Amino acid sequence: MNYSQSAALLERAKKVLAGGVSSEFRKYNHPHALFYTHGKGSRIYDVDGNEYLDFTLSQGPLILGHSHPDIIRSVAEYASTGQLFAGQHIKEVELAETISRMVPSAEVMRFCLDGSTAVQTAFRIARAKTGKDKFLRFEGHYHGWLDNVCWGNAAASAEAMGSRTQPVVSPWSKGMYKLSKDESVVLPWNDLPLVEKTLAERHAEIAAIITEPVMCNNGCIPPEPGFLEGLRKLCDTYGIALIFDEVITGFRLSLGGAQQYFNIKPDISVFAKAMASGYPISVVTGSRKWLDVLENGSVIHAGTMNTGNATVAAALATLTTLEKEAPYERMFDYGTRLMEGLRKAARDSGHEVLVQGPGPMFNISFTSLRKITDYREFLTTDRQKLNAFTSKMHDHGIRIIGRGLCISVVHMKEEIDHAIQVAGQVFREM
Ligand SMILES: Cc1ncc(COP(=O)(O)O)c(C=O)c1O
Repeated sequence: MNYSQSAALLERAKKVLAGGVSSEFRKYNHPHALFYTHGKGSRIYDVDGNEYLDFTLSQGPLILGHSHPDIIRSVAEYASTGQLFAGQHIKEVELAETISRMVPSAEVMRFCLDGSTAVQTAFRIARAKTGKDKFLRFEGHYHGWLDNVCWGNAAASAEAMGSRTQPVVSPWSKGMYKLSKDESVVLPWNDLPLVEKTLAERHAEIAAIITEPVMCNNGCIPPEPGFLEGLRKLCDTYGIALIFDEVITGFRLSLGGAQQYFNIKPDISVFAKAMASGYPISVVTGSRKWLDVLENGSVIHAGTMNTGNATVAAALATLTTLEKEAPYERMFDYGTRLMEGLRKAARDSGHEVLVQGPGPMFNISFTSLRKITDYREFLTTDRQKLNAFTSKMHDHGIRIIGRGLCISVVHMKEEIDHAIQVAGQVFREM
């Protein structure tokens, strides 16, 4: 692959865009931040004319692939009627009705712009309803880039995390407000006895437990049997809000998200990414019992840019397309086919690899572990080797990110098989 045009554009960008990018994660593309010209279906193209089979899907949002015609058409039609009214419009009611029909816990809701702000809205609701201040969250879970959720998810090594019962909680970034660390209690994931013990001692301080239902961001770790159920029970016992961060699992594990897939009803949940095919919209939702504080205005949620016509049209078209096409069985099948193919390709070339996840998204780790259950175990995997693997895949035209792979509605069986065949070649080269 030749990346020279991207390299030149990056140098030009660095003069005016800090670091040449608009989001930190984009710096870590291989071999450096790249510039793209267009995307269509499962393919994305860069300025050097390179074509990639895309399993990154814009970090999750493009569940219908790039430039899905229904989305493009709906956005164009509705954006031509106006952009943003500082007032309500009919399609946001239709969108809320659609989500309420699909998502088991979604009785009422508010729309925001992205996952990060929706998560903060959920905290505000939980604090207002319980009269308590802190939230309990888990090591390695990502809930956005704002200060209070960026502790304990970027450790250098498992050793650096200290003991399981007294974790060393380090910041992801410089410049974070030091006291924001005290907003949360951070524990290893999937350890119900530890959560039980902590809540027995500290429940009077805890307003909410927030969790990704599958720990998508580091290792694609499924919940251990009984773990989510246990959190549900503990929250009921102690009057704590159970918040599901469905920013990745939402509309991907099923139309009703992970809560439908695992059959567990959170009090509050947050959806973004796959909801709107790349347009900036998210939702915080739950039962009226919790969200009445938004209805009566005792909790403030606002945003000038919320529910612009284009974003709402994109979300409505995405969700109704997903409902119409019902692609979940296929996404699970193709995901499983790809996971099995990668396992076999690794085995055949003597690499110890763990491929883990439910199917529509999954992760590859270089490790002798047969299963990863928390962030500490994930940190023992060989991430340098993973980096080498994803970089080589990229050089062969397969775009994946270290965080994991996503399957979309538009990936075809031949493309899955092609990715497996390329992975085999890459494993042999490594
Ligand atoms: C589980 C989860 N929650 C929240 C966020 C933050 O969402 P956003 O980047 O839209 O602010 C992300 C982003 O990757 C995420 O994966």
